[in-house]
Amino acid sequence: MIDHVELDLTVDFQQRIVHGHAVHHVREAEQIDAPVLLHTNGLVLHAVWVDPGDTWVEAEWELRDAVPGKGRDLLVTLPDGADRIKVDYASRPEAAGLQWLEPGQTAGGDHPFVYSQGQSIYNRSWIPLFDDPSVRITYDAVLRVDNGLRALMAAEDRSDPSEEGVFRFHMPQPIPSYLIAMAVGDLAFREIGPRSGVWAEPEIVDDAHAEFVDTEDMIVAVEELYGPYRWGRFDVLVLPPAFPYGGMENPRLTFATPTIIAGDRSLVALIAHELAHSWSGNLVTNATWDDFWLNEGFTVYLERRIIEKLFGRERSEMEAMIGRDDLIEDLDDMGHEHPDTRLVVDLAGRHPDDAFSNVPYEKGYLLLRRFEETFGRTTFDRFLREYFDTHAFETMTTGRFVEILHDELFTKDPEAAARIDLDVWLHQPGVPDTAPVAQSDAFGRVDAAAARFVGNGTLPGTEAWTAFEWIHFLDVLPDDLEPARMATLDGAFDLTHSRNYEILCEWLILSLETGYRAADPQVEQFLLEVGRRKFVQPLFEALLGAENGLDRAQEIYERARPGYHSVTYNTVDRILAEESAEQGE
Ligand code: BES
Ligand code: ZN
Repeated sequence: MIDHVELDLTVDFQQRIVHGHAVHHVREAEQIDAPVLLHTNGLVLHAVWVDPGDTWVEAEWELRDAVPGKGRDLLVTLPDGADRIKVDYASRPEAAGLQWLEPGQTAGGDHPFVYSQGQSIYNRSWIPLFDDPSVRITYDAVLRVDNGLRALMAAEDRSDPSEEGVFRFHMPQPIPSYLIAMAVGDLAFREIGPRSGVWAEPEIVDDAHAEFVDTEDMIVAVEELYGPYRWGRFDVLVLPPAFPYGGMENPRLTFATPTIIAGDRSLVALIAHELAHSWSGNLVTNATWDDFWLNEGFTVYLERRIIEKLFGRERSEMEAMIGRDDLIEDLDDMGHEHPDTRLVVDLAGRHPDDAFSNVPYEKGYLLLRRFEETFGRTTFDRFLREYFDTHAFETMTTGRFVEILHDELFTKDPEAAARIDLDVWLHQPGVPDTAPVAQSDAFGRVDAAAARFVGNGTLPGTEAWTAFEWIHFLDVLPDDLEPARMATLDGAFDLTHSRNYEILCEWLILSLETGYRAADPQVEQFLLEVGRRKFVQPLFEALLGAENGLDRAQEIYERARPGYHSVTYNTVDRILAEESAEQGE
């Protein structure tokens, strides 16, 4: 097994490649008689070396045939006495795990930017790696950058400022390969707390800092619940808006979309979420991508506990209800019997991201909340804390989790345990009838306001509304509202120019669904600016459902696609291709 990696990479913005070498340290090498497996996807291999004696000698190696989306397995024979493998290589400009941004895609507009996104199996497109979450590694890395920009990695920064253009990093805790991450750009730092801060382009770092001031309190909140934060620092890197996800829990340095900077800290649940992964996901890691719900379901549960602790139950319940609505929407789209609506999915022969939906997140959350409500919060918190302590830096399968659950929770309260049909939760599609339901009086009032507005056009009294009430309001409005009704709403609240991207995106989708054309320019502008898949995908879907939708979608997409990350454009490519096929083009 490989347990440590050394990287020495030059970041070449001109060619849009990284090149250099990776050295893999093999533990208990003498016991390995089969070739060592590394994953690659689109890498240009220059040479492979092993170290049977004091010097590197050329290795015997073989590249297997390419598997779509997964790349080519590299098999290296390890001779007697060797315990290291060195690969000299370069990535390709189209590497799926890197996005190279033009200066025009950044806040500053003057410098290029590059960042990596490893989860699930993309790091193999810029590093030859054993790229499976079942194995943990530590690493050391050197990044060489020759254009004056700053390199960061999700690791300890050991750079020596006197070494210009050379950045050194060390990751002392063993992590799964998907958590290796880097970014290079014009970046500034502002401290939040003793172990937290924010990195962003200088143009937005103050706004980001103001938005994320609660970060240190969040860390303290999880520590009180589930034990120490074990990663040293927790910094957040705000990426340009092309970033395809809301956030990515890269250890010590969470990557985040700028679309959560709403000005009122209303979208910081995302920071709570990525922070929570420092326990669920990064400390105890899904052993396979079939067990992805162990990462995300636990994390959404922890996220809402953080929100409750910092901002109160009313807010965490509103967020839980929004999450449930998202889940139901996905289930309605997929079909409640679809196999991917099971918590434990079967990805055999598929790409790990194929089953991605709200199911592992929100159905996973509901199961954990079911445990909480059945065994009591104190008991369940004690269980979780013990779980993270005992299995820190380990990988976890659902099967193993079930054993632990039985040993540490179920056998101690068989009566309560009898009320949970675990097998149904884990292995059956849809949402069980016994699923907990969040309660929000505020949303009850919003429902009533929405009904009045739909009924007779009475505008809602929104003086006391937070972003969540707005999101819920837009969520429950019917998609066949009269465009004139939409215009009244817009006239009163200028939703077409909302600063809150969650509200804005909901509004633009509703505008497309209802045929409210005054928002068209904002739809286009949004899709050209933002590459976050969670927004881009439903916007294109709504556009396709609109009048002359395919033409309009294709026209915008032609210009937007070059700015999207592969995760986003692969999704949109598929949607547009399906629609074209349906229309028989
Ligand atoms: N780890 C995920 C992002 C991810 C999942 C990347 C699967 C690649 C494959 C991250 O923690 C996440 O869940 N982000 C969410 C936000 C969260 C608040 C639900 C997102 O990006 O929308
Ligand atoms: Zn997550």
